[in-house]
Amino acid sequence: MDEPKVTGTKPKMSTTRKILLILGFLSTLAAIALITVAVTQNQPLRKNIKYGIVLDAGSSHTNLYVYEWPAEKENDTGVVQQVEVCKVEGPGISGYSQTTEKAGPSLVQCLRQAEEVIPAEQHQETPVYLGATAGMRLLRLENKDAADKVLSSVEKTLRSAPFSFQGARIISGQEEGAYGWITINYLLGNFKQSGWKKFLHSLKSISETSGALDLGGASTQITFVPDEISPESPQNLLYFRLYGKDYQVYTHSFLCYGKDQALQQKLAWDLQSAENSSLFDPCFHQGYQRTISMSNFFKNPCTSIEEKQFPFSQLHIEGEGNYEKCRRNIQILFNKTNCPYSSCSFNGIYLPPLQGDFGAFSAFYFVMNFLNLTSDVPFTLDEVASAIQKFCARPWHEVKLQYHQIKEKYLSEYCFSGAYILSLLENGYEFTTENWQRIHFLGKIGSSDAGWTLGYMLNLTNMIPAEEPPAPPLSYSSYVGLMVLCSLVLVARSLFPTSS
Ligand SMILES: *[C@@H]1O[C@H](CO)[C@@H](O)[C@H](O)[C@H]1NC(C)=O
Ligand SMILES: *[C@@H]1O[C@H](CO)[C@@H](O)[C@H](O)[C@H]1NC(C)=O
Ligand SMILES: *[C@@H]1O[C@H](CO)[C@@H](O)[C@H](O)[C@H]1NC(C)=O
Ligand SMILES: *[C@@H]1O[C@H](CO)[C@@H](O)[C@H](O)[C@H]1NC(C)=O
Ligand SMILES: *[C@@H]1O[C@H](CO)[C@@H](O)[C@H](O)[C@H]1NC(C)=O
Repeated sequence: MDEPKVTGTKPKMSTTRKILLILGFLSTLAAIALITVAVTQNQPLRKNIKYGIVLDAGSSHTNLYVYEWPAEKENDTGVVQQVEVCKVEGPGISGYSQTTEKAGPSLVQCLRQAEEVIPAEQHQETPVYLGATAGMRLLRLENKDAADKVLSSVEKTLRSAPFSFQGARIISGQEEGAYGWITINYLLGNFKQSGWKKFLHSLKSISETSGALDLGGASTQITFVPDEISPESPQNLLYFRLYGKDYQVYTHSFLCYGKDQALQQKLAWDLQSAENSSLFDPCFHQGYQRTISMSNFFKNPCTSIEEKQFPFSQLHIEGEGNYEKCRRNIQILFNKTNCPYSSCSFNGIYLPPLQGDFGAFSAFYFVMNFLNLTSDVPFTLDEVASAIQKFCARPWHEVKLQYHQIKEKYLSEYCFSGAYILSLLENGYEFTTENWQRIHFLGKIGSSDAGWTLGYMLNLTNMIPAEEPPAPPLSYSSYVGLMVLCSLVLVARSLFPTSS
């Protein structure tokens, strides 16, 4: 042999070793190639995507959501995702009570947008649902005829779209709470866990689902799985069987306790003690002024209870920007005097002890996000209160200058909304400094907005089966991983035979 001298301590490789090494390398490549072929062969050639549309007709505006999912996986958890959201111009559909025939046409622009997102050949098979919430519940109480006309205008428009119309109706507060809870737990992957996650969860016997806190303009919902179910208030309990597991869920929806109606309620209380047509309000910034027409004010079912005769037709409000006073002012909305159950939130409504983590979304998120109080590491209750206190104390002209891009109506109410959220959570539901940090303010989970709409569609399309669908013991990716590992071990063994 005429090999060059190798310096150093490395022993010289024998020729057979070299050949074995090359052979081993080649067989590894071959194994990987084989597996790759097997994997790609098993994938369907073209992704078979399905679509669904849900319109959330809220009290202040309507949102249209487009969801998509792979057809062959439709019974799996977590596969549905939001691909489009369109905010309808103008007020919520309940705002068309005087011009009911205009409610439907207001949705046309967003329906066109959905037509562009969804391939034309799939329009006909794509279901479209509209669910109206507390704004329409209130209009139905105030003027049933107008509410019916709004719904039929909306139905007419949805039927004339190229999609498969599945209904336009007012959903109950209980449904709104339940579907919000289903949405976040579906998106967080809490319902059906496969493989390692299931195993890990069975080790730590942690609370498996997250509670849901939803805040709209006209109502608010609290939904969670309590530690123990007491049968004392059956109207607040729901039973679900999802993916082979039973859930007993507590839910309540407070009508008139959304952020806009809460403000109306508060003003109605303030009016009771007003001596003349001008009122100082600690929940608005100093220097802010607003005039309210008394006639509109008491048509609202949320405020009409307090009605009395006033010698003036206009109310002038002037801001004081005092957070502490504002909190005391809001307190009156939570009547804690009477509880016919073992425990209550407020107004004599049953509330079992709070349990586990909570996802707080919709206006809970929008308001806290504006105030920079959402982050992965939750703020303490004290930090949140002091941030809102500082914001409320800023004079209106300064706030208006800094946030000139935000409509004055919305901008002027962030101070109230922030204080109201703390009152609702701290005084209403009695979150404490200890469990405050179990509230997670979240807008989106993945690409999907948190809210009731996804849960509503999942239920109406029967995409969450009661029983766990039979699944192979190993997931596809674990199967592939295992195959690769085995081949590598085999190759390694052939490379390094059992010599000592
Ligand atoms: C989903 O479940 C329903 C009923 O449980 C069944 O009819 C349907 O075929 C399932 N779809 C898929 C893609 O497995
Ligand atoms: C209205 O009443 C308040 C006290 O509630 C008082 O401070 C204010 O000066 C009065 N305004 C007018 C214009 O009379
Ligand atoms: C609270 O509710 C009780 C009855 O449940 C009522 O007597 C009382 O006046 C209410 N308090 C307020 C401040 O509304
Ligand atoms: C939130 O943070 C942004 C960026 O730091 C800042 O411009 C804005 O003023 C903050 N908002 C509030 C309400 O403090
Ligand atoms: C889903 O819809 C069915 C009717 O199709 C109803 O019986 C069931 O209670 C709903 N489930 C949830 C979780 O709301």
